[in-house]
Amino acid sequence: GYIHEIKGLSEVEEIIKEFLNLKNVIVVSGDVEEDPSIMKEIGKAAANFAKSHIHSGDIIAVTGGSTVKSVIDNFPKVNSIKDVLVVPARGGMGKKVETQANTLSAKLAEKLNGTYKMLHVPENLSDEILETLVQQKEIQEIIECIHKANILIYGIGRAQQMGMKRGLSQKQLQQLNELGAVGEAFGCYFDKDSNVVWITPTLGININDINNLNLHIAVAAGKNKVEAILSTKFGNKNGVLVTDEGAALRLVEHI
Ligand code: G3H
Repeated sequence: GYIHEIKGLSEVEEIIKEFLNLKNVIVVSGDVEEDPSIMKEIGKAAANFAKSHIHSGDIIAVTGGSTVKSVIDNFPKVNSIKDVLVVPARGGMGKKVETQANTLSAKLAEKLNGTYKMLHVPENLSDEILETLVQQKEIQEIIECIHKANILIYGIGRAQQMGMKRGLSQKQLQQLNELGAVGEAFGCYFDKDSNVVWITPTLGININDINNLNLHIAVAAGKNKVEAILSTKFGNKNGVLVTDEGAALRLVEHI
């Protein structure tokens, strides 16, 4: 199909943007699976895009993960914006402190001369514990800020991989599979038709908040993430996708 007619990456960007009904698509040349240094370029591209869309007084929510980490690491120091607040999109600590949303929030706040708040709530807690936690004043305050966020920067993962990372049991991983989960973003697992089939129990941003955001920037690269990326499409004009050429060309084959 399309692949034969394509002349340049800007055309690929345009095709994906139309297909996913997004505000913008940025494709970085190269393939992160063949050249890991492309991850840095993804980070730079997303950071520069985000930078030009952040205004004084904004609340920015970020998820964890290595791709969002690259965005934050490559974020330029900005002095022209005031009073930005950065918050983790959801609870969940993960195993590595460097890629946790709390850590990334603090780092981004520093680059923006802003402030940050942390949410110290692990994932996979029982409903009972979550209900008790939400009643805590400090937790309530941060949850309120998270729901007020107008910009979200998030990663997308493959369902099984994310399930494992988030410590699901063999039985739960099998359930995820049976539910047809292919992709994961901000704690939601999506099937190939973009239905949310499983939600990680924790606090923070939920799927209903997504439509209220002025801007949400997904950063996900690598051919192996194409099905996951496609599963999370929500045909939302406030959405932006930053990806690599490897994933973009594979994605276009699905169109
Ligand atoms: O939610 C998805 C994951 O955060 C993606 O993680 O960027 O390390 O692949 P990653």
